[in-house]
Amino acid sequence: MTETAKQHQIAELIRQAIVIPVLTIERLEDAVPLAKALVAGGVRTLEVTLRTAVAVDAAKAMIAEVPEAIVGIGTILNGDDLARAEALGARFGISPGATPELLKAAAASRLPFAPGIATASELMQALAHGFDVVKFFPAEQAGGIKALRALAGPFRNVRVCPTGGIGEANAATWLAEPNVLAVGGSWLCPAADIRAGNWAGITAMCARAMKSLKSG
Ligand code: 3PG
Repeated sequence: MTETAKQHQIAELIRQAIVIPVLTIERLEDAVPLAKALVAGGVRTLEVTLRTAVAVDAAKAMIAEVPEAIVGIGTILNGDDLARAEALGARFGISPGATPELLKAAAASRLPFAPGIATASELMQALAHGFDVVKFFPAEQAGGIKALRALAGPFRNVRVCPTGGIGEANAATWLAEPNVLAVGGSWLCPAADIRAGNWAGITAMCARAMKSLKSG
């Protein structure tokens, strides 16, 4: 796949998602019911973070048992994480950052990938490796929409998926920015709801969010 085709693929995947929940799964048995709950609420594109011991198996279970879900891997910190994501059949990869080692590995990989950036220099490194679709992280903490607009000045063609501090109250405002393809965050899958197995609550919250963001 050419670099441009790969960038087009990740851009379309993120754009169609509208919202990408950032999932931290502590117990393997939660993976499939959680994915089903999100999909039932209209949220199909899921980022399973490599933050727990069961993350890889959780992603595999979702891919095997919830075919409607588009499962990607997040918290990719290095080339090894990227290789794990690719090997387990992830549809995309996302990183909170952009080290030269990771960018090089991602450029050589077939996996559609969005590196994370919070500054102009990080963005320039990402662009130098061919990545113009990035995660803006941590979005609110790194300056919010004002910072994003400032970055859009010199970097006109860059498209972003902001995450960090985004929730029901501000998701629509972020989505209204012309260079924002989708928003990400953990608010649609609160740890307490996952622990309690409140799948119906997660579905209801997703359905509400999708309805309001699609009409926005
Ligand atoms: C991420 O990795 O994108 C963040 O952990 C999500 O941030 P949030 O928990 O503030 O939504």
